[in-house]
Formats: sequence, structure tokens, C-alpha cells
Amino acid sequence: MIVGVPKESYPGERRVALVPGVLASLAKAGLQVMVETGAGESAGYPDAEYVDKGAKVASREEIFSTADIIVQVLCHGSNDKTGRSDLPFLRSGQALVGFLRPLGTAETLQEIARTGATAFSVELMPRTTRAQSMDALSSMATICGYKAVVMAADTLPRIFPMLTTAAGTITPGRVLIIGAGVAGLQAIATARRLGAVASAYDMRPAAKEQVQSLGGRFVELPIEAKDAQDARGYGTAQGEEFYRKQRELLSEAVAANDVVITAAVIPGKTSPILVTREMVARMAPGSVIVDLAAERGGNCELTRGGEIVVEHGVTIIGTFNLASAVPYHASQMYAKNVTAFLLNLVKDGKLQINLADEIHRETLLTHGGEIVNARVREFFGLAAKGA
Ligand SMILES: NC(=O)c1ccc[n+]([C@@H]2O[C@H](COP(=O)([O-])OP(=O)(O)OC[C@H]3O[C@@H](n4cnc5c(N)ncnc54)[C@H](O)[C@@H]3O)[C@@H](O)[C@H]2O)c1
Repeated sequence: MIVGVPKESYPGERRVALVPGVLASLAKAGLQVMVETGAGESAGYPDAEYVDKGAKVASREEIFSTADIIVQVLCHGSNDKTGRSDLPFLRSGQALVGFLRPLGTAETLQEIARTGATAFSVELMPRTTRAQSMDALSSMATICGYKAVVMAADTLPRIFPMLTTAAGTITPGRVLIIGAGVAGLQAIATARRLGAVASAYDMRPAAKEQVQSLGGRFVELPIEAKDAQDARGYGTAQGEEFYRKQRELLSEAVAANDVVITAAVIPGKTSPILVTREMVARMAPGSVIVDLAAERGGNCELTRGGEIVVEHGVTIIGTFNLASAVPYHASQMYAKNVTAFLLNLVKDGKLQINLADEIHRETLLTHGGEIVNARVREFFGLAAKGA
């Protein structure tokens, strides 16, 4: 079987879906890799390294026409700029693995389905111990949490660590994280390593212990979310009254910090506004907000998607696709996730979809010209399909 790796085409995207380091384990399973010329270049993996590990370097056309499985980072759906141009190349009998934004729009998913390809969405990976090595969302969130802190530190006109010097004492930077999922937890760890005092808030009570175990202070608010966590461990959408109270109660904490990193997202929903214009205005001049929810509408009222703006003297970073800004390690982690997934999917050198395996069942998005995923069909109000 041939696994094809096209060069990513989303503007500014620097990641690549497979790195040379995973090729040996794919070869052992009977999977030959074909990469598009220059696919790994901007992530730090030149063509020669792929060739060294046994891959063939080919044109985009050759990859799409030859490969049995196409692996990408951003496919049509998550790549809303150039992803559509790949659709005419996809075909029945071909598998596609990548970020497909399965809770984006039904029309986009129908477009993918109509190609006849068997598409697997990495976003739908179950959150089980067995699937942990395949969890690309967590990998990318880890990278984003790290990068958010590094960007904030670089932008802030202060330093993070406390210093006692002959020139006086410098107090440590204060970093508040709102939304302590994988990205938020990595942000706490990174901010602490740089010497900042980190605190974090999440509406899921389970987050408290995780924040504290990383040396962060947990911000307790006297409100309780209703069914804060769904069966998969994701936060759930709350009513506007709950968000209003949250904003009111978070106001002091936001004003008291030099950096606020927001990462409060809900799968398939626009992100709640947790930091308002008034809250930004109360922050000290030079403060920084990094809004990791920017692509999903943003947690800060003043965030401009894809941009860095200064409002009331506060820099608000709404840059999209932060994982792509650390392409070497983001690609390495993604490649490991995808490889673990492919090794689970391919038996005796053949793609063997087994719907009794929840990893296959939950990630399988389109097949035979249709959207077949039960969770996605339910989300879009499509009639349930038979087994
Ligand atoms: N394999 C596994 O078991 C596995 C894998 C990944 C994550 N997890 C766990 O799942 C949990 C969620 O992580 P994630 O990275 O997917 O989260 P996520 O990216 O979906 O969301 C980020 C965080 O924002 C929080 N949030 C949403 N709305 C909020 C609001 N209004 N106010 C405050 N906080 C709000 C959520 O509770 C969540 O913690 C974490 O505890 C993580 O450790 C488990």
C-alpha cells in the first residue's frame, strides 16, 4: 500500500503530515511512503531525508493518482482557503486522513463525501488510553499552549522571572490562563518554567487538581457550570447568564495579570466571550492577551481573527494556526499520531476497517459517497444510518 503525503497548501502552513523518522515503522507494516517534492522543507525535513528512509519523492498529481491513503495535516474543511482544490483528485477506494473539521459545515463534509473517498477525521479520535498515541488534537494543543506563552513573553515589555539584582528587585510576571485543557495546562507549565507566577481557571472542577499539579494556582469562582464536562471530557456550552457571571467574576483576575491566555473552546460551537472590552481596558498598559480560541470566534471581545491588535494599550494576539509556527515538533508529533493510527488501520498490508473498533468507528467520517459518522450525523441533524 502506498501512503501519499502532499505538500500542505494552506497559506503559511509549515507542517508536514509524516516525518522521515516514522517511515521505518510504516515500512515494517507494508506501507510505502511517497512525499510531494519539498513537502517537509519548511518544517525542517528536506526531501533527501525522506529518500534516505526509503520514501519516493513525486509530484502532487502522481501522489494523488497513485496513493491508497493520503495523509495531510489540513484537508478541505480545516483548510478553508485552498483545500477544495484537492477534491477533484480524491476518489473512491482511496483513504484520506487528516484534520477535516467534522463539526464545521455539513456542505463541506458532503463535498468530501461526494469524492467517494473514505475519510478519517483525526479530530474525532476517541479519548481513551488506547487512542492516546493517536490524539492529534492533544499534540497540537500542546504545541499551541507552549507557543502562546513564548509569544506573550516576547511581546510583554517586562520579563517573566523574579530577579534580585544589584539594580533592585524585579517582581515576577503574572500569567492567567482561562481554559485549562491540554493547551492551557501546557501554557501553565511553560509560563512557570520561564519564571512567571501562573494561575488558571476552568469551569470543569476536574481541572483544579491538574492546574495545581503543575504548580499553578487555581482561580475559584463562586459559580458552578451545569454538566461542565461531556462523556469525552470536553467542556460543554453554557447559557449566556453563566457567561455573564463568569465575566463579572473574572474581571479582577484579568486586571491583576500581565498576560492572559484564553483557551476556552467548546467542540463545534463558537467560543464564549469571557474577556470583554471593559476588562481589557482595566489591564495595565503593555499587557498581553493571547487568544487561542481566535479561530473559533475568540474568547476576548476585542480579538481580531488572524491579527495582532493593540487596544487600550493591551496587545491582543489572535494569530491563527499557532501549531504551524513550531513546524518541526508539531510535524513530528502529528506524524507519530498518524502513524499509530495507520498501524491500527492496516493489517496484512491492507486497509481493514473494523467498525467494532471504536477508533475506526469514531474517526470514520465519509465512505461510499456519504457522511457515515453517527456523532457527526447527529450534530447536523441528519437521519441516523443503519449499521
Ligand atoms: N486521552 C485522554 O484521556 C485525553 C486526551 C485529551 C484531553 N484529555 C482531557 O480532557 C480535558 C479537556 O481538554 P481539551 O484540551 O480537549 O479541552 P478543549 O480544548 O476542548 O477546551 C479547553 C478547556 O476550556 C474549558 N472551557 C470551555 N468553556 C469554558 C468556560 N466558559 N469557562 C472556563 N473554561 C471553559 C474546557 O473545560 C476545557 O478544559 C482535559 O482535562 C484533558 O486533560 C484527555
